Amino acid sequence: MKIIVVGTGFVGLPHAAICAEYGHQVYAYDIDEARIQAFATTERDAIEQYVNEPGLVDIIKETHGKYLHFTTDLEAVIEGVDAIFMCLPTPPNLDGSTNMSYYLDALNYLASLLAVRENTKRVVIINKSTVPVGTCRTLEGVLHDHNVPNAGIASNPEFLPEGNAVEKSRHPDRVVVGADTDEDFRILQRVYSQFVDHVRIRYIETTPETAEAIKYVANTLLLTYISFWNGVGARLAESMANIVMEDLKKGVTADARISTWGSYVSNGAGGSCFGKDIQSLIHQLKVAGQQTHLLESVYQINEFQKVYLIDRAIVEAGATFNNKTVALLGLAFKKRTNDMRDSSSLKVVEALLGRGVASIRAYDPLANDEARHYFDPQRNHLFEKISYYDSAEEAIRGSDMLFISTDWEEFRGLSTTIEATVTPPYLIIDGRRMIPDFYELVEMGYGYLAVGSPYTHKPLEVQSTEEAVHIEGV
Ligand SMILES: NC(=O)c1ccc[n+]([C@@H]2O[C@H](COP(=O)([O-])OP(=O)(O)OC[C@H]3O[C@@H](n4cnc5c(N)ncnc54)[C@H](O)[C@@H]3O)[C@@H](O)[C@H]2O)c1
Repeated sequence: MKIIVVGTGFVGLPHAAICAEYGHQVYAYDIDEARIQAFATTERDAIEQYVNEPGLVDIIKETHGKYLHFTTDLEAVIEGVDAIFMCLPTPPNLDGSTNMSYYLDALNYLASLLAVRENTKRVVIINKSTVPVGTCRTLEGVLHDHNVPNAGIASNPEFLPEGNAVEKSRHPDRVVVGADTDEDFRILQRVYSQFVDHVRIRYIETTPETAEAIKYVANTLLLTYISFWNGVGARLAESMANIVMEDLKKGVTADARISTWGSYVSNGAGGSCFGKDIQSLIHQLKVAGQQTHLLESVYQINEFQKVYLIDRAIVEAGATFNNKTVALLGLAFKKRTNDMRDSSSLKVVEALLGRGVASIRAYDPLANDEARHYFDPQRNHLFEKISYYDSAEEAIRGSDMLFISTDWEEFRGLSTTIEATVTPPYLIIDGRRMIPDFYELVEMGYGYLAVGSPYTHKPLEVQSTEEAVHIEGV
């Protein structure tokens, strides 16, 4: 089939590559010329500065020129197209509603080209982006306004988790397709022929509105579960003695009805989707006249979680941040990605700078370069206080305390690095519970404050400041 993928970001690029891997002729189109040029080089560094997903570069190298083509010229590739996947940003507006401007800009241009194409065989425009329930109808109106002949709108939301995009695109849990006509369902069946009769992957055909709703309900349910562990599990284990977080988790999730996924505590869930999707669903429900207490609480718990450890450090560990040097480990919103969108580290940096730290020594295995864009000193001179290092050890050296913000596996070995690099008194603030052997550090005099545990430290030996007074004859 001839497929166009509009938007080559975290969703569009892996999707284009996987469609090409399955033998479709795929034209990956973007308005960002630098990005398209970088992808067309098929060079690892050039591609990964935009989208860093394990296995992705290999597929691009294998398929480029044969099945996969990169273009900034939509008009040149529109003729004879069967399916067009829209993988465009849908960020939140200030009121939480979804900003559809990228989408509508792209669709209006697309519709103007489709309206005058020579081959008027059926073409389906497929929403892969997360868009509000009912968007399919709005988009139908756009096609209608442009007099586009023989075109349908379908919904096919994307569920891939970043950091595992290739694997999850090859073996998704489900493929959800919402369409209005048998003809459009058939086109999607041909695109996804490898999944239609798969014994394990659920191929679900439904209405466009249901497909759109599935994405919102799934994402907000995941965030609700994460926030339950943060809002209940962490609060319990932090405030009551002798609750071992890992055992609590094991005991609770031993019940087959309770998910192991998400049963962890952290300094909040970031990424481009959770926050914006829950805000959008709250907005959609409010517009529909519904109450949204549960979703609002979930959102607030997650935002609170991103910075509350700073307050705990002050209250429980007596920490002061003014003029201190803080090592910050982890900038990406989660491991195995360089994506910093809505990352907890953004809030941590803001809080640390707000509390007057002298400097932040940052390290992330993948996201240092990305962070330089986020914390551009041209935008805010306070970002000059941030310096970037190539290893955890270098970042920790010379710091007064440490904040772990991302769950990179390599941080599990940090205790040896800490011991070799900095001496107590030294406070470790662990937003991801990455140091299982922290008791040994505590024994040596380091302070350890983790999400899901009370502050742990060795009590200082109390030395009386009063001089013993020796009174003759007594
Ligand atoms: N990132 C994820 O893990 C993920 C997972 C599931 C769903 N989604 C949803 O998928 C959608 C896309 O997310 P993303 O993370 O890939 O976004 P992204 O910002 O990484 O990529 C969007 C791309 O669209 C391009 N673009 C913008 N306007 C354009 C236009 N008019 N014409 C052509 N290209 C244009 C941009 O240059 C960019 O390359 C969003 O709705 C998101 O909620 C994302």
